[in-house]
Amino acid sequence: MFCGIVGFTGKNYQSAPILLKGLQKLEYRGYDSAGLFVSDQALGTDQLVKENGRVSELEKLVSSKNVTGNAGIAHTRWATHGVPSVNNAHPHVSADGRFYLVHNGVIENYIELKENYLKNVEFHSDTDTEVAVQLIDKFVKDGLTTFEALKKLISLLDNNSAYGFLLMDREEPERMYVAKQKSPLLIGIGSDFNVVTSDAVAMLDQTHDFIELHDGEIAIVDPDNVQLFAANGDAISREAFHLDIDATETDKGAYPFYMLKEIDEQPVVIRQLISRYLPKDGQPQIGEGIVKDMLAADRIYIIAAGTSYHAGLVGARLFERWAGIPTEVHVSSEFAYEQPLLSEKPFFIFLSQSGETADSREVLQNINAQGFKSLTLTNVEKSTLWREATYALPLLAGPEIAVASTKAYVAQVTLQAILAYALADREQLHLNLEQELSKIAIAIQGIIDDKEQLQEVAKNLLVESPNAFFIGRGIDSTVVLEAALKLKEISYVQTEGFAAGELKHGTLALIEEDTPVIAIMTQPRLAGLVRGNLAETQARGSKTYTIVTQKIATEEDDLVLPDVNELLTPLVSVVPAQLLAYYTSLERGLDVDHPRNLAKSVTVQ
Ligand code: F6R
Repeated sequence: MFCGIVGFTGKNYQSAPILLKGLQKLEYRGYDSAGLFVSDQALGTDQLVKENGRVSELEKLVSSKNVTGNAGIAHTRWATHGVPSVNNAHPHVSADGRFYLVHNGVIENYIELKENYLKNVEFHSDTDTEVAVQLIDKFVKDGLTTFEALKKLISLLDNNSAYGFLLMDREEPERMYVAKQKSPLLIGIGSDFNVVTSDAVAMLDQTHDFIELHDGEIAIVDPDNVQLFAANGDAISREAFHLDIDATETDKGAYPFYMLKEIDEQPVVIRQLISRYLPKDGQPQIGEGIVKDMLAADRIYIIAAGTSYHAGLVGARLFERWAGIPTEVHVSSEFAYEQPLLSEKPFFIFLSQSGETADSREVLQNINAQGFKSLTLTNVEKSTLWREATYALPLLAGPEIAVASTKAYVAQVTLQAILAYALADREQLHLNLEQELSKIAIAIQGIIDDKEQLQEVAKNLLVESPNAFFIGRGIDSTVVLEAALKLKEISYVQTEGFAAGELKHGTLALIEEDTPVIAIMTQPRLAGLVRGNLAETQARGSKTYTIVTQKIATEEDDLVLPDVNELLTPLVSVVPAQLLAYYTSLERGLDVDHPRNLAKSVTVQ
């Protein structure tokens, strides 16, 4: 479901090391087994190697088997159909060993296909992918070419199915067949080689030039040629785009985990956004079309999932308070199937780090069909949500590798602030956003420079605790949701974040001796109320920790943050929460970057 794909074909290359390196770069997406198939045109040999567990285990196996060959396909699998095991790992192979297939996504009607077409075939795995490769084999035996067989396979998959297919045929040992539907795949262009990948990050050491494949399309990739075909089989052409990412941005350097590196990068991310979107005397530069269409809207609908949804909650307040446009925020998986009554002139904003979240895409496709305009804010240029929206703007956060999102949240809030500022009557607002954001970048740096104190807090307050609570009011009631998500997803401490006033309406029943309660308080008008709520938990034995801004700090408070514009405080107050989550996970001895059961990009619904 969250699997990774890489493929390589070149004339005078050894593909196995390139494929293994690609798989390592995809490890961050989450997986539980890995495998590759490599064929050697010169020797006329090929090898299939699969292993349960880490890519490093696969690497050991590959070197012990002396795998050689100039073309190959490889995969990291996150189990959906069938347990993690060598048999269920990809590539899957057809009964007579002619076809090898790796697949991202889910074939919803695979049991029906198996029953209709493959009654007498012996299967070696529990996967939907093996059904696909056996079908190709069957169709070729029935007289189709490999290309036609792939086309026929695709035509049989039901509408809910998602696939990124990468196929090799032993009779054409240098050629890769590619197809995709709802699951990202890119073709990377080299001088005397070509690659295929589900994530550009995996192949940046080879090339920065990629052709995107659209849903329903098929490609044939040879060492010196790429052919694209529309779903009906007609040849089409598409220019490659150049991806301007430094390959070293995807290395973690001296950092123990990507998450810490990405937290540390947040001040730089804000500065990048300032220089791109507020370049001239702090006047916003985001494109006339976007401003015009947003100003013409009577309501903004922000659509997102998880951390991006939390960033949207902040954005909604910015659009309402600064730009005076009523704004709603919706979880994409709900909006997709329960569309609320819309205003007359809605404008949609999609927030997505990856640009591939299937739930959000479902909404985008629905609203496109209704003819509404949209803007995607994403970290991945040319991603699906980027391509399919009316407008798109990059978050400029650089590749985010840790599963737990940090810098993308900061980038999403910052860019929404810039947008709201662009729409606002700036004379009335009395705010120099460029200066304010620069101040915020410095404030974040201050927290990062002092991060060891948060390691101590994590040790004393959270590491041994089965549960924890974050509370806040006003704008802080949004950031506590993100704080709770961060802590629970990487430390497995069961955590809730909620509006402090809600405590008395139920959750107070969970407070016991030593239950950690962390309050985020940034606004003077609400601080007294939150302090009252905190006292109620203390009376029941809680251990409390307060994160406050300077202007409301007292001697008793634990962490004091510099004062910044009230609606922008989440940019600062989220950082100690990210660090508390990081250190709790670290102190619990967990794999911070790869929390169990989760993956970076959720491309199925
Ligand atoms: C949590 C996290 C997820 C994502 C969510 C949406 O740390 O990363 O909650 O925010 O899966 O993903 P994107 O932003 O890629 O659409």
